[in-house]
Amino acid sequence: MRFVPVDAILSGSILGRNIYTDNREPEFKAGREIDEEMVRRFQLEGYLGCYVEDDFSKNVKFPYFVSEKTFVQALLAVKSAKPEKILKVARLIYDELAAKKEEERIISEFDIRSLRTYTLHHNVSVGMICAAIGFKMRMEADDVKNLIAAGLSHDLGKNLISASILCKKGQLSDEEYQEIMTHPEKSVEVLRENGEMNAFIYQAIALHHENENGSGYPFGKRDREIPLAAKIIHVADVYDALTSHRPYQRAYAPKDAIAYLKSGAEILFSRKVVGALEEILSPFFVGTTVHLSNGEYGLVIGMTPILKRPIVHMLGSGKMVNLARDPAYENILITNSCIMPVDYKGNVEKLNEDRNPAHRRKKVLVVDDMGVSRLQAQHALEEEYEVVLASSGIEALNLVRTSGYPDLILADIDMPGMDGIEMIQKMKAHGMRDVPIIFLSGISGKETIMRGYQVGMSDYLLKPSSPIYVRERVAVALGLRRDNV
Ligand SMILES: [Fe+2]
Repeated sequence: MRFVPVDAILSGSILGRNIYTDNREPEFKAGREIDEEMVRRFQLEGYLGCYVEDDFSKNVKFPYFVSEKTFVQALLAVKSAKPEKILKVARLIYDELAAKKEEERIISEFDIRSLRTYTLHHNVSVGMICAAIGFKMRMEADDVKNLIAAGLSHDLGKNLISASILCKKGQLSDEEYQEIMTHPEKSVEVLRENGEMNAFIYQAIALHHENENGSGYPFGKRDREIPLAAKIIHVADVYDALTSHRPYQRAYAPKDAIAYLKSGAEILFSRKVVGALEEILSPFFVGTTVHLSNGEYGLVIGMTPILKRPIVHMLGSGKMVNLARDPAYENILITNSCIMPVDYKGNVEKLNEDRNPAHRRKKVLVVDDMGVSRLQAQHALEEEYEVVLASSGIEALNLVRTSGYPDLILADIDMPGMDGIEMIQKMKAHGMRDVPIIFLSGISGKETIMRGYQVGMSDYLLKPSSPIYVRERVAVALGLRRDNV
């Protein structure tokens, strides 16, 4: 069996795994032939892809994270929104995972879902990821069970928010964003109306959108004020959302989502939790195709204790290679994981065109004295934005004077001569208004961050930040994308 992304599914192939929507019976049964109509539905309904059975992949067996029966039970429990059922299935998930060896509690499969049942599957999937993290972090048994129940229910409140807001492709208005921000508390309300859970669970759900630096919602709580369970749901939530197609954004590959979370560690997410996620998640899922730096292509058929080095079945030669062990492959890099056959950068641009009626590319001014940092920022942003580079505060001030203010400034703080903060103060003194500022800095000291806030910074990135993190944070600051709602 192998995973085939939606744009590469061929009619005539055999479906390898049952696909569930929101019923006990699968919507599409494993073993059936995929016809044209089904391919069209997959594309229209926003499926990521599906698992197929073919000659190339017939030896690939899947390590299910939890049994199919338990998965379906979780789906039905979450759909019912009944605390009693959710708690029961959380115990089932716990028991199944407790019976496994630690190295088997690895997530390396996609949950195949349509956009219509996105929130339901997202809840279930977040519950599963929370379970794996809870075990990895060696939490107490009761805490893990509560954490699973909280993960399964964390977004139930979204059912009370209108689909037109949740699925809106364009920029959200302030009122719409306010409405979205009520969903953690609404999730708690839904549970309270249907029965009873406990304070641990209510708190974890209510605080799952709080950020480490206090920039989250609904309360703006920061690091130690946020319970561990809420931090775990936060990370699992963002990971699952980034790796799924959503109405307003295409899915990222797991390894890109991990890069995003790592760059946001200590700013948005708990570094410990992100570290735990990295240990229970393979960047290369079983059944996906990978491209190696020696030019070979292969199919991932199993995991090794080193999650970044899976066991691969080579396309062409047909040999099986353990990338963690085989000395001939010691220096070979996995250059690309072909999960998304479509270049998502191109698609993002298309989405932005839809969003921005002016069809104008927004201008981002990058100010950094280090050439490498300027190039990295340019590389991360040039697909979507017009990027203007300056190597010092003075050069940036001159640029602004001659060609006007950009739509966003991404600036280093620590620069010789005039530092980033002074530069922004000068620009503001010259009348710059409403331009989002993101500071990019090697220094994470509280004092530096406070100085940044004093000049009105909207976000800060720590060097080195992955390109995907830079791109996403810039889009969030410009209001083009939502901050993991
Ligand atoms: Fe949420």
